[in-house]
Amino acid sequence: MLTLGVLASGRGSNFQSIIDSIESGFIKAKIAVLITDNPDAYAIERAKKHNIESLVLKPKDFADKNAYYSNIAGELEKRGVGLVILAGFMRVIGKALIDRYRNKIMNIHPALLPSFPGLHGQKQAVDYGVKISGCTVHFVDEGMDTGPIIIQAAVPVYHDDTEENLSERILKQEHKIFPYAIKLYSEGKISVEGRKVTVKTERRDSFFTNPVRES
Ligand code: GRF
Repeated sequence: MLTLGVLASGRGSNFQSIIDSIESGFIKAKIAVLITDNPDAYAIERAKKHNIESLVLKPKDFADKNAYYSNIAGELEKRGVGLVILAGFMRVIGKALIDRYRNKIMNIHPALLPSFPGLHGQKQAVDYGVKISGCTVHFVDEGMDTGPIIIQAAVPVYHDDTEENLSERILKQEHKIFPYAIKLYSEGKISVEGRKVTVKTERRDSFFTNPVRES
């Protein structure tokens, strides 16, 4: 069975959606550890509630970025982690971890990449005036949200949207596509060649649309 290691910095609602998907049997995997850089992350409470080990590792306790990410890679390897999940981990991952988990680190980003990478993807979308935004699950490479795209979901952006309500609309989709991507991975249905990710399912379901306005 696939073993997951989750890295999160904050409230951990995506972490929760993955926990729930495992507990309901939707994903056949186990979570070995939560690693956080933030001792106040609410994700830690979620881990406790579900008997998942958590580790607080702060960059300032390590000599440099390389030492920090080498240590994280070691903790993950020690626990037999096969897939690393970035569930709101608010840092650009170091090469020391990427090299040891090439195409085995998944991130969720709250925009349709390659549009609006980096922080505040939802605000960037509202400010730019796009009519469609969404979220993206991708593998992590050395760049800022530049790795191979696995799954995307689209949502409408309305003229009176704020960062807050667009974030909420996108988050609902995040909670669907992130567990789904992990499920597909755990079933061996995802392959990567260069930038291109092939999702092998009966349906062509590596994207989702949600064109109807919620009431
Ligand atoms: C989400 O918007 C995700 O797309 C981004 O960070 C946020 C994390 O939210 N990478 P949560 O901690 O999972 O609730």
